[in-house]
Amino acid sequence: MSLFRLDASIKIEGSASREIADVVEEHWVSHHPGDHVVRRHIGTEPLPADAWTAAVTGGMTPEAERTEAQRAAVALAAQLVDELLEADAVLLAVPLYNFGVSQHIKTWIDLVITDPRGKAGPLLAGKPLVLATVRGGAYGEGTPREGWDHSTAYLRRILEDVWGADLTVVEREFTLVGVNPALDEFTDLARQIHAEALSAADEAGRVLAKAS
Ligand SMILES: Cc1cc2nc3c(=O)[nH]c(=O)nc-3n(C[C@H](O)[C@H](O)[C@H](O)COP(=O)(O)O)c2cc1C
Repeated sequence: MSLFRLDASIKIEGSASREIADVVEEHWVSHHPGDHVVRRHIGTEPLPADAWTAAVTGGMTPEAERTEAQRAAVALAAQLVDELLEADAVLLAVPLYNFGVSQHIKTWIDLVITDPRGKAGPLLAGKPLVLATVRGGAYGEGTPREGWDHSTAYLRRILEDVWGADLTVVEREFTLVGVNPALDEFTDLARQIHAEALSAADEAGRVLAKAS
């Protein structure tokens, strides 16, 4: 058995998305002693930004005529898909950046979609997947930034509707409370949101461990 874990935070220390993913991973590891976790840290070790163009054009070019860059990009996309297909469960930790997904996560998704294996049917049909996603601010109904989170719905669309994963989302908002003094009035609320996120992570980890 194996778990594929992808981290998209640009931080290592103090990352809220990693904290949630760590809780989920601990459950999986303790339920599968001796099994392994395959990791990819696209926030700190980004995929090449130009790989997607080369993978798309490479896919349209007969193999023998591909450039070196196209060959490398097609191979990279295949490796990313192998990581997903070979895993029994998937764990993604993805922060909100600039009201959307980072170029890192978009490049990863775009590259995966170039691989021809996704054309035969949903790549992750029924595979258990936990998405840990965090936001510095708050985007709930009635807040000034309601509707400004252009990441979560997009990720759900890809993971659940395009790739067919059995998706559980664990969310945490207001991670910048305690960092940005302008948000100090939300300290109690942020503490409660944090506790709820860790509890949701605990439950998601239990379910993931048993499902895979
Ligand atoms: C460059 C950058 C852009 C960010 N953009 C947003 C944003 O648009 N909305 C938001 O709510 N938080 C934003 N944040 C805050 C992050 O979502 C927040 O710090 C989150 O906890 C980061 O994930 P991590 O703790 O796992 O690193 C941004 C942070 C950085 C560094």
